[in-house]
Amino acid sequence: MTDKIDIPIITIDGPSGAGKGAITHLVASKLGWHILDSGALYRILGVVSEASGIDLDELNHSEVLRNKVTQLARDLVVQFKFNPETEEIEPFIEGKSLSKQIRTDHAGQSASKVAVISSARDALLECQKDFAKMPGLVADGRDMGTIVFTHAPVKIFLTASAECRAERRYKQLINKGVGANMRALLKSIQDRDERDQNRSVAPLVPAVDSLVVDSSLLTINEVFTQVIDYATKKKPDWFA
Ligand code: DC
Repeated sequence: MTDKIDIPIITIDGPSGAGKGAITHLVASKLGWHILDSGALYRILGVVSEASGIDLDELNHSEVLRNKVTQLARDLVVQFKFNPETEEIEPFIEGKSLSKQIRTDHAGQSASKVAVISSARDALLECQKDFAKMPGLVADGRDMGTIVFTHAPVKIFLTASAECRAERRYKQLINKGVGANMRALLKSIQDRDERDQNRSVAPLVPAVDSLVVDSSLLTINEVFTQVIDYATKKKPDWFA
């Protein structure tokens, strides 16, 4: 059996809207590796917590509520299945797809609110580590390189200015025919950055041994090329 430590891992961390999801999919499909979308786990925890009546804006003031969220995290049984139609990995709870529910901006905010609870993060740790399987894993999140997979040989920190990320999100929504407000989107991104970067546990920071890529002025393909060039230099055997 392969020792877990020998499983090839690339971590891709960074703020929301920097293009981590797209790069993760491109890198994983080039290498034929598995994907961990850790944000989906936090989004599910946020959605499930709200569905059980927890007011996430009260979490800072109430240990009882934080303990409830932690218990929900411990009890969470999520299955991830590949949907060939959308070519996306969908999360399921008790046979029900949560794909649509967790992809809203509201769910992103809820995720960021439950993600400040240290004990809830601990409860999700093992589940995330279990994603490391041969032939390899590309792990997308905020603390993949700093907490969950500190031993990963290739770590990327993908960022972009808040304005640029808001504009991309705006275009995405407009293309989908969904109404969007640029100022509200920018505010939502800035709020989430503020919470994710300044929390006391697992804050969003680049790992010291990561390659920082600012995608503000780059296309997805240019970012992809930089990531692959860097990974090839660090681990040529992965690409042999
Ligand atoms: O990547 P995302 O937008 O789906 O993440 C949603 C939120 O979940 C993000 O704002 C913070 C939290 N999160 C986290 O704290 N740690 C991770 N590894 C992934 C996400």
